[in-house]
Formats: sequence, C-alpha cells, structure tokens
Amino acid sequence: MSPALMQSCTALSGSLYRRPCFLFILVAVAVSVTYTTFTLNWWNDPQRPSVINHTGKTADDDQVNTRVLTNRNGVQWEDPGRYHVAYPRGYKFVMDEPEKCRYGNQAPFLVLMAPVAPGNLASRDAIRRTWGNETLVQGKKVQTLFMLGLPGGPGAQKVQEKVNQESRAHHDLLQSDFMDTYHNLTIKTMLILEWLVSRCPEASYAMKIDSDVFLNVQNLVSMLVNPDTPKQNYMTGLVWWHSPVLRNPDNKFFLPYEVMAESEYPPYPLGFGYIMSMDLPKKILGVSPQIKPIYIEDAYLGMCLKRLGISPTDPPSKSLFDVNPIYSYGRCKLSTVVAVMTTRVNQLLRYWQDYSRPGPPC
Ligand SMILES: *[C@@H]1O[C@H](CO)[C@@H](O)[C@H](O)[C@H]1NC(C)=O
Ligand SMILES: *[C@@H]1O[C@H](CO)[C@@H](O)[C@H](O)[C@H]1NC(C)=O
Ligand SMILES: *[C@@H]1O[C@H](CO)[C@@H](O)[C@H](O)[C@H]1NC(C)=O
Repeated sequence: MSPALMQSCTALSGSLYRRPCFLFILVAVAVSVTYTTFTLNWWNDPQRPSVINHTGKTADDDQVNTRVLTNRNGVQWEDPGRYHVAYPRGYKFVMDEPEKCRYGNQAPFLVLMAPVAPGNLASRDAIRRTWGNETLVQGKKVQTLFMLGLPGGPGAQKVQEKVNQESRAHHDLLQSDFMDTYHNLTIKTMLILEWLVSRCPEASYAMKIDSDVFLNVQNLVSMLVNPDTPKQNYMTGLVWWHSPVLRNPDNKFFLPYEVMAESEYPPYPLGFGYIMSMDLPKKILGVSPQIKPIYIEDAYLGMCLKRLGISPTDPPSKSLFDVNPIYSYGRCKLSTVVAVMTTRVNQLLRYWQDYSRPGPPC
C-alpha cells in the first residue's frame, strides 16, 4: 500500500462505513502496537546509534549533524536516519535497456515506469498481459518498463538469477544497486527520473505507476493529447492538496517536527500513479540536492515541485483516478477511468479481461 493511500485512509478515518478503510484501521492498530513495542525497545537500546542532532530546521537544512557510516570496504556515507533516505549515493544501473527509447528511430510518446520488487514476477507478468502490452495507442508509441532494486535476505541470489533470466526473455527490466525495500521507495523514484533523463529525453510524458494499478492507456493517451494539456511543467494524478504531516509516532508515516516543520506537505499527486511532462525529471533532479529526501516518495516530489515553483495540475475529472475504490469496478466504469487501484493480481487480470471484451462497454 502506498504511503499516500495510508494517508488518505487516515484522513478518511471518520468514514468508518467505508469498509476498506475500516479494515485498514484494524490492521493499522495491530501493526502500530507491534511497532510501538519495537520503537520503545529501539529507543532504549544502548546500541542505538545516536542518529541525528535535530536542530529544529526543516528537512532541507543541510546543517543537521549526521553520523557518518563506514562499510567493510572503507566507503563512507552519511547515515540518513529513520526519516530520510540515502540519495544521492552514486547508484549504478546493473541492468539497463539503453535502446528502449530509441528503438525504431521513434521516441515513445509515453513511458510507463512501474516500480516493483525483484521477487514480484506475478505482478510483472500480469502487467505484460494487460496494460503493459499496449504499445501503440491512437498512433502514439507507449513503452512500459519495470524498475527494480537489489533483492535482500537469504534467498537473494536465487531471486537475482531469476530476474536475470526474466530480463533476457523480456528486455523490460531496469535494476539499480540499492536495497529494494519499502523504506527505499524514494531512491527508486529518483532513479526512475535519472533513467528517464539519460535514456528517454525525447519522450513527451512519463507515468510512474504502481504494479497493482489498473491503467486505461487509451484514456490516458486521450487526456495527454488533448490540446488543453500542458506540454511542460505538468504533473497530474490524484492531487493531494492539503496532506497533513502525520505527527502520531505510532503512524507508519510519522514525521517529527524536526524533519518537517510545516503542518502539511506541499501539494503532490498520490504515488499510486502520477504523470509528468518530460521536462520535469531533469528539473526535479536539479533541485533535489537542495532538499534532503524523505522516505515518503510522492510527498518528496511535491517538495521538489514547490521549490521549482510548479504546482501539480488536477486531472480533467477527479473520477479518472481512484486509489480507494469501495466497490469492484465493472466494464462500463473501467472504460471511463485512467487509473484504479486493485486489491490483487487476479483483480487486475479480471478487470482487464472485462474491459477489453469486444462490444459497447456500457
Ligand atoms: C546539536 O547541534 C547544535 C547545532 O549544530 C548544537 O548547538 C547543539 O549543541 C547540538 N546538541 C547536541 C545534544 O549535540
Ligand atoms: C499482446 O497483445 C497481442 C495482440 O495485440 C497478443 O497477440 C499477445 O499475445 C499479447 N501478449 C501478451 C503477453 O499477452
Ligand atoms: C536503502 O538502500 C541503501 C543502499 O543500498 C541501503 O544502504 C539501506 O540499508 C537501505 N535502507 C533500508 C531501510 O532498506
């Protein structure tokens, strides 16, 4: 579940009758009890690294004292602490598809970038069979790629071998040498932007889309080719205009005042699926060194946009994006949306089957 969704759930906690949220809150209570216990133990642990000396400044203040870590090879880096992530750190792509955006001499109009965990082959296969297989839409070239970090844990080597095989079979995987963990999503996003800048500069638009989302590529392309859609400084999706910074330490997306003094994040489109014009990746990477990356990736992009003086844009209709559908979508509704969150791989496959059946959708 994306941080943004959690936040939206938290914000919606008044509406308990919404079953998905209610269930989520039950789970959240269970998780936070465990988490609190962990946090307290961690806090009292004499081994606890003395992480950051917060000076009460905002996240982009570089004067915060930080601990320097050294690995076995003597390489040093700054401990990002619990709320920031280690970016930039000179990550390299260990798996690349440098020609994807040049293939056939025609740059894609739209690049779909799906961050996904290395072990999540099921999601990638589902995408390949559904929206990832839409390569030419209304005469516009569309390219789908998956972004991975390194697998961790005891089975890591096996997973990596499978990923290598999969890459040879499909040639649609990008992988960089950072640990692929939930906490590191911001790193993944920034590397997606780096890849777009270096490998895909001639595309018109890029979308970052979570692997559990149903995407109606036809409607997305229609929205983008509309003459009213800006070609620059454009970022859209389900824009969260007043997302509160969560101050309850038990919340998964807690940020202390010392890291983020403001009470709300600058506006940003929710992480489950956002679209940007292709001038933005470079601009965001340009200001990013001035703003210390927090682990909440979509909110961080909002902070970068704000620094650029750019506001996200609401889509033509908010119903085009649904992050928290209350009911399962039918064929008629699927034909009207751009992006809808699904609950599991099977639902994505079912949605696609339903949506792509011939005949009038409604
Ligand atoms: C934290 O940093 C500030 C400014 O760098 C310094 O004045 C203060 O003494 C430090 N506090 C601690 C507890 O190290
Ligand atoms: C992609 O679509 C084509 C037809 O448009 C179909 O022949 C092919 O089997 C599809 N690929 C996958 C992986 O489903
Ligand atoms: C994030 O990735 C970096 C680089 O691989 C790694 O050092 C760090 O442990 C990861 N952080 C988490 C919380 O997984």
